[in-house]
Amino acid sequence: MKRDAAVTLEAATAADVPALAALLREAGLPDGDFSPHLGRFLVARDLAGGIAGAVGAEVAQGGGEDALLRSLVVVPARRGAGLGGRLVDELERRAAGWGVRRWWLLTTTAEAFFAARGFRVVERSAAPETMRATGQFSGGCGRTAVCMTRERGGGAT
Ligand SMILES: CC(C)(COP(=O)(O)OP(=O)(O)OC[C@H]1O[C@@H](n2cnc3c(N)ncnc32)[C@H](O)[C@@H]1OP(=O)(O)O)[C@@H](O)C(=O)NCCC(=O)NCCS
Repeated sequence: MKRDAAVTLEAATAADVPALAALLREAGLPDGDFSPHLGRFLVARDLAGGIAGAVGAEVAQGGGEDALLRSLVVVPARRGAGLGGRLVDELERRAAGWGVRRWWLLTTTAEAFFAARGFRVVERSAAPETMRATGQFSGGCGRTAVCMTRERGGGAT
């Protein structure tokens, strides 16, 4: 668990699902398909117990080394203060223990954010089948999105 004066980064629980869904919806991100992956989600909890941000991973079935980074969101009032970066760092730290070595993501809104963190744009066809089988790749929401990837520990910062 990682703390500062304002928020604690911790594993999401089933009780977080409604608030998480609302946060994702408000940010224009898919909100209907994350529940099965809740065990790989982190939330940034504020002192009042509210959710200030979140991020999640979908790890390849069968324990592969690839994971999809998804559902990164910070409430508008807290953006630009480093919380998004902290969520990604903490997810990556935990995912190292799940055997994740390579990250993939699709984004229409945050290419520069991820590029600054060492992700590079690649063709979607470069992603392994396990990642292309995820709802984000195969669903409609991802069709216009940019595909990005990064090896573990390959961050720019
Ligand atoms: C993307 C997001 C999570 C970043 O959260 P954050 O807490 O503001 O991020 P941080 O404070 O750690 O990083 C801010 C840095 O990233 C940049 N940044 C933030 N959002 C960005 C975006 N959408 N595109 C490009 N750069 C962005 C800021 O300019 C800032 O740069 P700096 O460090 O050089 O000053 C937040 O903007 C958000 O919730 N956006 C809506 C949902 C979204 O688009 N999620 C990504 C889905 S893949």
